[in-house]
Amino acid sequence: MGIVRTIPRAPGALPLLGHALPLRRDPLAFLVSLPAHGDVVRIKVGPAAALVVCDPDLVQKVLLDDRTFDKGGPFFERLREGLGNGLGTCPHGDHRRQRRLTQQAFQARRMPSYAQVMSKEIAEAVGRWSDGDTIDVLTDMQTITARTTMATMFAGTADASLTGLLVDFDVFSHGVYKRMFMPPPLQKLPTPGNRRYQQARARLLQAIGSIIESHRARGDKGEDLLSTLLAASDDGQGLSDAEITDQVMSFLYAGMETTAAVLAWALHHLARHPDLEARLHAEVDAVVPDGAPATFDLLPRLEFTGRVITEILRLHSPGWMLTRIATTDTELAGHPVKKGATLVYSPYLIHHQATLYPDPERFDPDRWDGRTTRGRTNALIPFGGGARKCIADTFGTTEATLALATIAARWRLEPAPGTTVRPAPTTVLNPYGLTMRTTARTTSNPAASRTA
Ligand code: HEM
Repeated sequence: MGIVRTIPRAPGALPLLGHALPLRRDPLAFLVSLPAHGDVVRIKVGPAAALVVCDPDLVQKVLLDDRTFDKGGPFFERLREGLGNGLGTCPHGDHRRQRRLTQQAFQARRMPSYAQVMSKEIAEAVGRWSDGDTIDVLTDMQTITARTTMATMFAGTADASLTGLLVDFDVFSHGVYKRMFMPPPLQKLPTPGNRRYQQARARLLQAIGSIIESHRARGDKGEDLLSTLLAASDDGQGLSDAEITDQVMSFLYAGMETTAAVLAWALHHLARHPDLEARLHAEVDAVVPDGAPATFDLLPRLEFTGRVITEILRLHSPGWMLTRIATTDTELAGHPVKKGATLVYSPYLIHHQATLYPDPERFDPDRWDGRTTRGRTNALIPFGGGARKCIADTFGTTEATLALATIAARWRLEPAPGTTVRPAPTTVLNPYGLTMRTTARTTSNPAASRTA
């Protein structure tokens, strides 16, 4: 094992509570304060301890060894209880098989046809806006990503209940996050919050049951994720109905919230940086045909748009805090790690270190201009890494880039008067309170505003 080093403790732990207060009050600031104390830092949440991995190379080490550092830990168990045992939540022992069965739906050759669906959904959603509307940006972005996920992953699914599904996912997602820090006995109390969570979850499972049923009734052998899963379970070696339900829950959950948060943050920052917004407008005016949505073939030319998305993935990584559990006694950079220890990795913490990103709070898409990004692969981890890396990283960035380009070609969005936006870290890092006013763009792209 070499030299054994003691793991430093984060200062400010209170008796009984540990670091629960700063984690609840301002978890992002708390996480960003930790690298000052070491490359691995011990924190306490109530009686539970966790090791926060603060060094990008050590984070890679953890992510690449998914047998030793499996999904798990007391916080993660709450997510597993809520979401079931799908691809994102299953333990190492189930993961290879689940990934093999679902990976086909994310092959590169499928991306152009997925992008076609994305372009259509995005155009329809922003086509419903009128000049001078005040919009709840996150909800509108979630509508785009929910419809896209349903139309690509579960092709042909009726979407009449989409609004209800979005509301239920919101309640569910907040409930899961609250439960991560709630002692188990409190989770069982019949409080209004617990009841709302249970009811939302029950409705979600019911909606997913209907999606599976209608897909099965149609009996088509499509290439979408659900058809692939159903076909796999038909041959007797694949997934059971309960497993398919868990997969659908996992994919809907991961597909709806993450990309929507990225888009909402991008619109927020662009409105506060008119110089960068003007550069985005110049690019989309030159690349996106008037009145049409951005399409897959245009992606290589939407270079600045892509940089904006990468910078948002750095600045506001939707998956901001994730955990692993040590399955055996091991070590990390000479620090002893006991079997059963919880490890935390945080893309947010890595992306906000001034040693890796000068002036880390600044929104600066030009960090990604190709000259300044060399040698930083371990320092940009919005999709995690190793075997559990996001299965839909290309899907997510394609969707975000097409949506941002289509919106920017047609609309200018400004903060609605009196709006105060703050990060709301739940299971995803969302911008809370983001309402914006729409103005149809006329100056440099007249045809776009005519059709908007
Ligand atoms: C920009 C958008 C997205 C971001 C930033 C993101 C981020 C992540 C991260 C950080 C992980 C790894 C979690 C961990 O290490 O514990 C992950 C896993 C996953 N993501 Fe995404 N995601 C995005 C979009 C999507 C979309 C659109 C889908 C589905 C259509 C999706 C489905 C999944 C699934 C199923 C996993 C689990 C993979 C596995 O364990 O094998 N994600 N994502």
